[in-house]
Amino acid sequence: MNASIGVFDSGVGGLTVVRELMRQLPSENVIYFGDTARVPYGSKSKNTILKFSRQIVRFLRTKNVKAIVVACNTASALALEDMRDEIDIPVIGVVRPGAKMAVEKTKTKHVGVIGTEATIKSGIYTDYIRQLDEEVTVIGKACPLFCPLVEEGLLEDRITDDMIDRYLSEIKPYNVDSLVLGCTHYPLLFNPIKRYMGNGVTLINPAYETAKELKQILDEKGLLNSRSNIPSYDFYVSDGMDKFKAFADRVLPINVNTVNVIDIESY
Ligand code: DGL
Repeated sequence: MNASIGVFDSGVGGLTVVRELMRQLPSENVIYFGDTARVPYGSKSKNTILKFSRQIVRFLRTKNVKAIVVACNTASALALEDMRDEIDIPVIGVVRPGAKMAVEKTKTKHVGVIGTEATIKSGIYTDYIRQLDEEVTVIGKACPLFCPLVEEGLLEDRITDDMIDRYLSEIKPYNVDSLVLGCTHYPLLFNPIKRYMGNGVTLINPAYETAKELKQILDEKGLLNSRSNIPSYDFYVSDGMDKFKAFADRVLPINVNTVNVIDIESY
């Protein structure tokens, strides 16, 4: 089915999920919306995130998308369950797939989760992980300064290493063997986080399992595109298209030609 997959995030971070969709679903068209005018979501209330997410879903529905990926951990954590009944097409977030992968990977049954303040405060990763295996202990830590560091391109930098030490030194004593990168920006810090945590810790990027599950859902529902389709990728933001484009060109394996700005408040 030729309709696009709608993907949204509070800004640029969800592009790490698009990157994974491109790898695992290379024949699918994608329409991405980044709420760059209203980012960050990670410090906002549930009501606000729910209102923003509903507006974005309304916008994506005007593009006749066949499925929606909530490519934002914070929106997945705080808005997805409330919205699910309102949407009559497949909708998938990143939290449940990330939790599933963590449970699959851990052997010591000590799992760490890092994310925004809102995601960690919601406790949703802990809930999902313990629904799957109640013997797993979960230690969560909000790392709010990681997002601006990533957006500034400081992926390999002394300041970033210092912040990693400051946040993750609280997780280290718990001897976790799996660490969920529970914010869409964090996979871009994979290398410095891996260096800090060491080889004994598996870093979980929920985007991988999300793309895998989406592929399975589309397949089951007969919604996959034909393999010969040459995919189109369309990008929409609520502000700052030049900064978005520069970031997208760094993260994605394609050059983004056009970024469209829309008034998301009108949806
Ligand atoms: N995209 C958000 C997430 O994955 C991080 C940025 C924000 O705070 O909005 O949680």
